[in-house]
Amino acid sequence: MHMQRRTLGSTARRGPLAPGIAVFLLFLTTAHTLRAEPIDVASPGKVLKLTFELRDGSPVYRVSRLGRPVINTSKLGFLLGGQGSLDQDLNVASVTTATVDETWTQVWGEEKEIRNHYNELRIELEETAGDPRRLGITFRVFDDGIGFRYHIPLPPGQKGIEITDELTQFALTDNHRAWWIPAYGSHRYEYRYTDSPVSQTTKVHTPITFETKDGLYLSIHEAALTDFASMALWRREGNTFEADLVPWSDGIKVRAPGPIVSPWRTIQIADTPGGLIDNYLILNLNEPNRLQDVSWIKPGKYVGIWWEIHIQNSTWKSGPKHGATTENTKRYIDFAAKHGFEGVLVEGWNVGWDGDWLDNAEKFSFTKPYPDYDLNYLAEYARKAGVYLIGHHETAGGVENYERQMEDAFALCSRLGIPAVKTGYAANDEAIYRTDEHGRRHAERHHGQYMVQHYRKIIETAAAHQVVLDVHEPIKDTGIRRTYPNMMTREGACGQEFNAWGGPRHNFPDHTTILPFTRLLAGPMDFTPGIFDLLFVDTRLGERVSTTLAKQLALYVVIFSPLQMAAGLPQNYEAKPEPFEFIKVVPTDWEETEVLHGRIGDYVTIVRKDRHSEDWYLGSITDENGRYLEANLSFLEPNRQYVAEIYRDGDDADWEKNPYAITIERKLVTSRMRLPLRLAPGGGTAIRLRPAMAVDLQQLVGDEPRERK
Ligand code: NOJ
Repeated sequence: MHMQRRTLGSTARRGPLAPGIAVFLLFLTTAHTLRAEPIDVASPGKVLKLTFELRDGSPVYRVSRLGRPVINTSKLGFLLGGQGSLDQDLNVASVTTATVDETWTQVWGEEKEIRNHYNELRIELEETAGDPRRLGITFRVFDDGIGFRYHIPLPPGQKGIEITDELTQFALTDNHRAWWIPAYGSHRYEYRYTDSPVSQTTKVHTPITFETKDGLYLSIHEAALTDFASMALWRREGNTFEADLVPWSDGIKVRAPGPIVSPWRTIQIADTPGGLIDNYLILNLNEPNRLQDVSWIKPGKYVGIWWEIHIQNSTWKSGPKHGATTENTKRYIDFAAKHGFEGVLVEGWNVGWDGDWLDNAEKFSFTKPYPDYDLNYLAEYARKAGVYLIGHHETAGGVENYERQMEDAFALCSRLGIPAVKTGYAANDEAIYRTDEHGRRHAERHHGQYMVQHYRKIIETAAAHQVVLDVHEPIKDTGIRRTYPNMMTREGACGQEFNAWGGPRHNFPDHTTILPFTRLLAGPMDFTPGIFDLLFVDTRLGERVSTTLAKQLALYVVIFSPLQMAAGLPQNYEAKPEPFEFIKVVPTDWEETEVLHGRIGDYVTIVRKDRHSEDWYLGSITDENGRYLEANLSFLEPNRQYVAEIYRDGDDADWEKNPYAITIERKLVTSRMRLPLRLAPGGGTAIRLRPAMAVDLQQLVGDEPRERK
């Protein structure tokens, strides 16, 4: 990145710019007159305006969109352990502004080229009294949101910093409608979303999404959480949320031996729900890719010994029903090879699952297979079949046990050609045990600084061994995949597994129409779609999958994940080869993404262009209500005929009464048409749109789709 600077009043000089990069940095010197005056920064297209101000020596900010307030005056600052508050008696020491306009390429993703275009304001504050401490705040103002982060230098004479509270506020302008999950619950991020007014929230996780009465959509989250506590939000009163940093077991929120640079606090702002989805602000606020060679990082699809365990056909533990046997794994490898899947996940392969595995945090081995699982043989068998094994490291929250073994565990993967590992941290929120230097044990929280540091270690260790990660029970995603593209996907919400044992109707049909506007704004999710035995009989509570069959297919497009599981059982796929065809062809790495329709909690339609062909894919899903939508096909290349391979709900399909009814049909379409989407209650439509060949033109007539007016 090239930057040009100038001091206020000097002549601006422009330097040479790299292709696709235009950067201009303007430096303004300290001016006493600036102290009390509000400082405005507009976004590049003048859509958003951020105002910074010192009010009686305390820093505040506010945000407006096209002249309308979006965030009212909100506080900034910190409380520091032993050093008092860092939010009062401050003066502006310097102000710097910059404009950046660059385009970068994602190694993989939902959009290949991402434009990073913002105006920046960097404020250096200094205390007016005593031995003055400093506080820096950087704001970046985009057309579709803002981000800001703090810089806390080491105070004079101190050996470290302890943050006891972050004072950042987000003062909403009204009692907006909100979609949220609770913070500090024992199930971490695995809760169904509540749709309520802001006034009914208390402590919540981010991303939290809001709809205003005048049709704006906001989502508050954070970016680049790498060595800090996760930020939950606490609505103490009115419509104002305050940052609530997840503490260490001793109550301190963040500790650092030197200066601190906080994660970015982000507010995404759009005038449609879909505008929150094709918004790349969080990625833009992360550091660029640090891995030199990324040729080993490959998106793809996998099958595995997983659903059969969750529905109790087999077990993780050893014994007569053990799922991870050599024979069973060979069956999955053969199936993967036959149908073109790249990976085979095997859960329960390693010693440690016997007894109540949730209590086995210290007993898991990540290198020792069970005797009926011939790891070396299977890795070779898979390689010869042209597929790879995916490792599984369930820690049950035993982070110390995992860290002791991580070097050996990832070395084993690279030695055996296992290029991907699914990790797991299935422990209650406050049950991550840490031993201190005196041998005392402390229960840390799932998303406090200790775990944030742990995830970072695992990402770096995996990268050193050229292994990609799929993390379950993760810390929330804040866009670290830009810096470490081997951090491919994670769970972090109620996934498909809740349909197996979460209780009847747990993932009610509206669940997946909320996720794209909430959890998925943070990043990819390993939801594990593709269950074909929707009405499997569970031995406990009578659970089932609360969708139609077509909706299972549509989820592959709606829920982005570069590693996507075909989670169903091989025999069920082979019994339904026609719908299975969609799972076989749908890509997991995209050139472009567009949202055609969206109403949070009701329905969403997303189209994505394959990164490696001319094909487009459409996924449309609805909640428990059936509906009729029309897809405007103007995203297709003009003057070209495409074949739409449509997998839709049968005319009488219904998630409760008739979930398997599916109609598969082909039509000729062009960019000038609208395609009807008839979604059954709890249903969906999945479509592949591929350029037509001569044979298609002979066979098909473009009848039903309408010309656009
Ligand atoms: C919870 C994960 O989400 C699930 O996918 C996995 O099978 C179990 N833990 C066991 O590791």
